[in-house]
Amino acid sequence: MIEIRQLTKTYGSLVAVRSLDLQIQEGDIFGFIGPNGAGKTTTMRILSTLLEPTNGSAFINGMNVRRHGRNVRRLVGYMPDFMGVYDDLKVFEYLEFFAAAFSVERKKRKSVIDGVLELTDLHNKKAATVDSLSRGMQQRLGLARVLVHDPKVLILDEPASGLDPRARIEIRELLCELKTMGKTIMISSHILSELEEMCDHVGIIEQGQLVFSGTQAEIHKQLSLHNRYRAQVGQGQAARAVEILSSLPFIQEVAAEGDDDEITITIDDSQADQGRVARAIIEGGMDLLMLQPTKIKLDDAFMQLTQGIVQ
Ligand SMILES: Nc1ncnc2c1ncn2[C@@H]1O[C@H](COP(=O)(O)OP(=O)(O)O)[C@@H](O)[C@H]1O
Ligand SMILES: [Mg+2]
Repeated sequence: MIEIRQLTKTYGSLVAVRSLDLQIQEGDIFGFIGPNGAGKTTTMRILSTLLEPTNGSAFINGMNVRRHGRNVRRLVGYMPDFMGVYDDLKVFEYLEFFAAAFSVERKKRKSVIDGVLELTDLHNKKAATVDSLSRGMQQRLGLARVLVHDPKVLILDEPASGLDPRARIEIRELLCELKTMGKTIMISSHILSELEEMCDHVGIIEQGQLVFSGTQAEIHKQLSLHNRYRAQVGQGQAARAVEILSSLPFIQEVAAEGDDDEITITIDDSQADQGRVARAIIEGGMDLLMLQPTKIKLDDAFMQLTQGIVQ
């Protein structure tokens, strides 16, 4: 549904996006992750026809964003990272304005607006002024606004930034609902864990280049997050467990942790699994009280992938 080929965008001598290749399948929620300045907004604005690429091309549903701008705009709902200020404008007036801008027929506008207000759970705020809404409500209104022309593709630039946990959950639920309606969603964030649960695929961008693209499981695999375990053995057995395990060929690393009888173990998962670790401990004559995979926070994984370089 979204395809980017060798996309480059320069601002003077600064290369904001560098030969970027990316595909997003229809019906996917794609998380576009990268630190500030990585080139997320630039890419999303090009996809939304608001910015011309310097080189390369981008397609929405097979249509070149440069050549078929009008048709692309009909297909895409773009929510910018900054919503702008609308003094004294009421929620329904705000939506009426965008419905008119997207040439939603006058007689259909009321039902369209009621529909998007219902979906974003803002129906009881219809007559409130936009600037009286909480930040979470404003973000949902931003979503309502990009839904008035019923686009197939949503391009959402950091919709969850600055929201409290509850408002973030509401946005996440809303996006999942939009996915079930068949929308393709590209959503950006500078925080990987913010999108962790809801994305089918993620792409990590840094300095205008994609450093990783794949499923969450593939990120875990790439960073060897799935082959680290924590074990607890009987009292006073930790040192011996380390000694025994470290002599085994499928163990990459093993160390005792603090004063407890806990050890951390990294295994070569092409050779062994958790079961072999458990057997080795028990056959070595020790008690095994606990053995579980270590969950490295995805944010730590993100830091490892991007090394925190910001332009
Ligand atoms: N209009 C502009 N003029 C000059 N430089 C810009 C402009 N917009 C963005 N940049 C620069 O391009 C880079 C990428 O910016 P942006 O796409 O906004 O990144 P992100 O959204 O990932 O934070 C940054 O270094 C930014 O300073
Ligand atoms: Mg941005």
